Formats: sequence, C-alpha cells, structure tokens
Amino acid sequence: MKINKLAPLTLSSEQMRACGYKVIDLLVDHFDTIHTKKHAAKHKREAVDALFDPTIPYEATDSSKVLEHIQDTVLKNADLPSHPKFYSFVPSPSNYISVMADTLATGYNIFSGGWTASPEAAEIEIISINWLLEMFHFPVQKGGGIFTSGGSMANLTALVTARRVQCGTDFSKAVIYLSDQTHSSNIKAIRVLGFNKDQVRIIPTDLEFKISINKLKNEIAKDKLMGLQPAIIIANAGTTNTGTVDPLNELARIAKKEKLWLHIDGAYGGGSVLSEQGSELLAAVSKADSLTIDPHKWFFQPYEIGCLLVKNHKHLSDTFTEKPEYLRDIEGNESEINFYDYGIQLTRRFRALKFYMSIKTFGLNAFKEAVQYSVDLTESLEDKLRLSSQWEIISPATLAVINFRYNPIALELSEKELDEVNQYISQQVVQSRDAVFVTTVLNGQVVLRMCLINPRTTMDDVLGTIADCERYAKEFLEQ
Ligand SMILES: Cc1ncc(COP(=O)(O)O)c(C=O)c1O
Repeated sequence: MKINKLAPLTLSSEQMRACGYKVIDLLVDHFDTIHTKKHAAKHKREAVDALFDPTIPYEATDSSKVLEHIQDTVLKNADLPSHPKFYSFVPSPSNYISVMADTLATGYNIFSGGWTASPEAAEIEIISINWLLEMFHFPVQKGGGIFTSGGSMANLTALVTARRVQCGTDFSKAVIYLSDQTHSSNIKAIRVLGFNKDQVRIIPTDLEFKISINKLKNEIAKDKLMGLQPAIIIANAGTTNTGTVDPLNELARIAKKEKLWLHIDGAYGGGSVLSEQGSELLAAVSKADSLTIDPHKWFFQPYEIGCLLVKNHKHLSDTFTEKPEYLRDIEGNESEINFYDYGIQLTRRFRALKFYMSIKTFGLNAFKEAVQYSVDLTESLEDKLRLSSQWEIISPATLAVINFRYNPIALELSEKELDEVNQYISQQVVQSRDAVFVTTVLNGQVVLRMCLINPRTTMDDVLGTIADCERYAKEFLEQ
C-alpha cells in the first residue's frame, strides 16, 4: 500500500500532526506514570530477537504501526534512569522542558557548528557556558567551554587539549597521574590518545578514597629523576563509587609548582555545586585548568549532554581549529565562536538549547532546591542507617552517594558471608524490578551503593527498598 503521494520521505501535515500528537501523549503518560512502572526485565538475546523482523523493509509501513511496535517492545521494557527508585550507577532524572527542547533542536535540525550557520544557537551555547563558568568561578571572559555528548567526551577533549599545551607534538616522555578511584572514561581517553601504559601512574587512595598526596608527590619526584615529563593530573570532584572529592587545593598547589595541567573530572559531582555542602567541597575547582561536568546527570538533562570548561578558551581553539576551504563561508569573526573549533565534532546537534530552556523556564533556584534536597536526603538516610542494628555504613553520604552493607550486629557474619548476603540482596531487588540497586566493591568488600540525585525520590521510597532488602537478607540467611 502506498502511504502518500508526496516526495519520498515526506508526510502530509495531517500525518505529521497525528504522529506527533501520539508521541507527545506517550511522553506525557511516561512522565506522569514513571513512578508506577517496573524496571527493565533482563531479556536474553534470543527472546529479544523474536520481537523484531530482521529483514530490510523495502516497502512502507504505516507510521502508527511502527510506533505501536516500538511502544510494545522498546518503550515497554526500557531502562528507567529517571525512576525515583533507580538508585544505581548515576541516575538521570530528566525534565520535560529539556525533552521538548531536544525535540525542537532535532526537528529544526539545527547545526551547532559554525557561527554563521546559526548565530543565535551559538549565542545560546555561549550564554549557557558562561553561566557554568560563573557557577564554578572560572573566568568568564578568558575562560570557555563546549557542550559534548557526555562526560567521556568531555574528558577526552580535555586530555587532547592538555596534551597539546603540555607537550606540543612529542608526548613520548609525558606522564599522567590519577587515583585508583578515577572514572574509567579517563583511562579510555588516555588509550585513545596513544599514551602507553607505562606513561600512566595510578595513585592509591586513602581510607576516605581520596588520592594520596604523599604517594603522588613520590611518583612525580621519581619520574623527574628518570628524565620523564610529569604532564597531567586528573583529579576527582565526586568519584562515581563514593562521591569523594580529592584534596583539590593541594593538587592545585602541586600542579602549579610542578607545572602540570590539572584536569578535574566533575562529571558526577559537578552539579553538587548548587548545594551548600557541594559548593564548599568544590570551592577549589576554580583552580583547575579544565573541568568536566555532565548535565545529563545532576543538571537534570536528558541524554546526551556533557560539558568541558577551560580556564583559557584559547587552549581549546588552538587545539582544535582547522581551516578547510569548504568552511570559510560559515566562519564568524574573532568574537563569534565556531564551536567546531572548540572540540572534536564538526556537525553538532544543538545541545545547549535544552540546558538553556530548562534553566530559563524553571529558574536556577529550582535546580538548587533539587540538588540540595538530594544531598540532604542522602545524609538523612545515613543517620537512619546508623541507628539500625542491621546495617553498616561503609562510606558515608557524600554528594548524594552512600555505600553500606547488611551486617547485623547480632550475627557476626564472616567477610565471605557478608559478600554473599549483600550480593543476594541486590540480585533479589533487581529481579523484583521494583528498584535498581546494585553493588560495588570497596576495599575488597561487596557493598550496596545508592546514588540519590533524583529530586522525586522520597525517604519512603528508600526506606521501602531497605525494608525489602532486610526481608531478602533474612530469606538468604534462613536457607
Ligand atoms: C566521574 C565520572 N566521569 C565520567 C563519566 C562518564 O560520563 P558519560 O557516561 O556521560 O560519558 C562518569 C559517568 O558516570 C562519571 O561518573
């Protein structure tokens, strides 16, 4: 059946509206009912294969049929990182205004590369980046930044820049320092950049999971004696495992004295600057040369939006500018930024729009309230768990991350039994599809990790899950 007599790949206005209204209805229902939904079931590959016809569809299908099929398969069983009981990894408690902004950016297919292609889009990215520079006390005139697809790309962009500024084209003697709690995306970036394993020093952390300053100093001194070039420190402003912030002041002092580039990975913790506790802990991020933040985490944006901020915007443009003849007609003048000169991508989607529209619509105070709520909620949970004879805090509430394990005082379980019971608890919670609550390993112990950055998560949600965990634990111990 021929669906329309228009040009190929074209729908009539009526068809477009009908499709669009259905999509909006689906989205609004999703936002309204997400808290009642079950988390994704683990489906095996064969079962999922059976849901889809793998043959290439040369002929047309009615768009409502395609949509219905996606609704019944993908949407019905999708992961729910915005769900109030999604406690693991880093949740992504998105917001509706940003979803609409992303729809507009995609619908208009705005090219956010060269200035003259869409000057107002570039202006919105400049304004949004300036807001962030101000929030993190980076210099607004001299500083700069770019929105990326996520934290991984922001870290990669930072390290490409740092490598060029520190080493020029010969980085054969350069050494990079990072703690054993640093996010794996940094290791990936280092690998992409072509550093050898022996150019990387993984520095152990102390009892609070902060980089050991003494061990870092020892490594730098040793490398200098060996004729190597200490080049880059990667510090953490909120580790993924425990929310820990490295001693940033001391790291900044070392970086300045030894002439190292200080990159801070604030992909997880950056957003906490909007809370009282976070703004204190992150006060020294302004001393970094570059800072990764990740608005699709704690600035409540839907995927994908990360961000890199730099102290000196010239470091970005000097690293990434290329001047091919086919782009000369869309170049702006000196003050007009071509964001393709600030990073790796040439064709870029208009990510800044969702950040800008959501902050304009709700106001930054609403974001502050949401972040403060999460930090306070996690601290209250710590207080409650400390009053219980069933639970042991392994790492205290820090920037909305807390790690604990089931370890009843009365039972004196062995380390092996503790690992097993906590692993079992997590498996049962995940299997129930009521919450996403997985383990991590700290100092060799299996622990339960909660990351509570969703402002729609209530204490009742959390205590309900804890009560389920206690039930699962008893079930395990009675077996
Ligand atoms: C500290 C840290 N850095 C980097 C990343 C990578 O960010 P993305 O997943 O947005 O690429 C994460 C993701 O959780 C993170 O927690």
